[in-house]
Amino acid sequence: MDQEIIIALTKGRILKETLPLFAEAGIEPIEDISKSRKLIFETNQADVRLLVIRGSDVPTYVKHGAADIGVSGKDMLLEVGGADLYEPLDLNISKCRLMTAGLVGKELPQGRIRIASKFVNIAKQYCAERGMQADVIKLYGAMELAPLMDLADLIVDIVDTGNTLKANGMEPIDLIANVSSRLVVNRAAMKRKHQRIQGIINSLSEAVKKSAE
Ligand code: PRP
Repeated sequence: MDQEIIIALTKGRILKETLPLFAEAGIEPIEDISKSRKLIFETNQADVRLLVIRGSDVPTYVKHGAADIGVSGKDMLLEVGGADLYEPLDLNISKCRLMTAGLVGKELPQGRIRIASKFVNIAKQYCAERGMQADVIKLYGAMELAPLMDLADLIVDIVDTGNTLKANGMEPIDLIANVSSRLVVNRAAMKRKHQRIQGIINSLSEAVKKSAE
């Protein structure tokens, strides 16, 4: 089916906020995603299928056209470089802040510093923009542990309530970006399947407006 629409969703917390928006826009999986180990889901729309994958993989699927549409956190788009994707809609969900943070009251060392993050590209760009000399250390989780164990001087991480930082004796320092989940579209698909994809964007846009009421 040439006009089939594949939508790549970010699993986990973002998915829980994405599904009600999609339902409001008229797209619902025909089975309970949370109770399945499947990765591809049929929906009530015969031409729409959902992929449920890691957030860091969504931009890649959409960039290569393996998915036509994606739902991706702005943090991931900044990290992997979402510039070649069309980003028509802020879904206004999963809002948080991308920040640097360090141990409370601890001054940075003179000269070269160490930054731990899973967002290594964002961390490198942050340093480059400020002329800071830094070694960026890639971690996959629990970034807050790195300064405590003297693995790093700073971290770059997502801050929501700030509770995780506080519980580990850390404080937020610089705001790098406000984050929310975005709808991204493959540029070639947008041309080839324009009417159908634009229809989905419009329905989701209405659902976003309604959820803000
Ligand atoms: C994120 C982030 C922080 C925490 C921030 O981790 O990495 O650890 O949430 O939230 P808070 O400001 O409300 O405390 P998440 O739980 O998503 O796990 P992760 O380490 O797998 O990213």
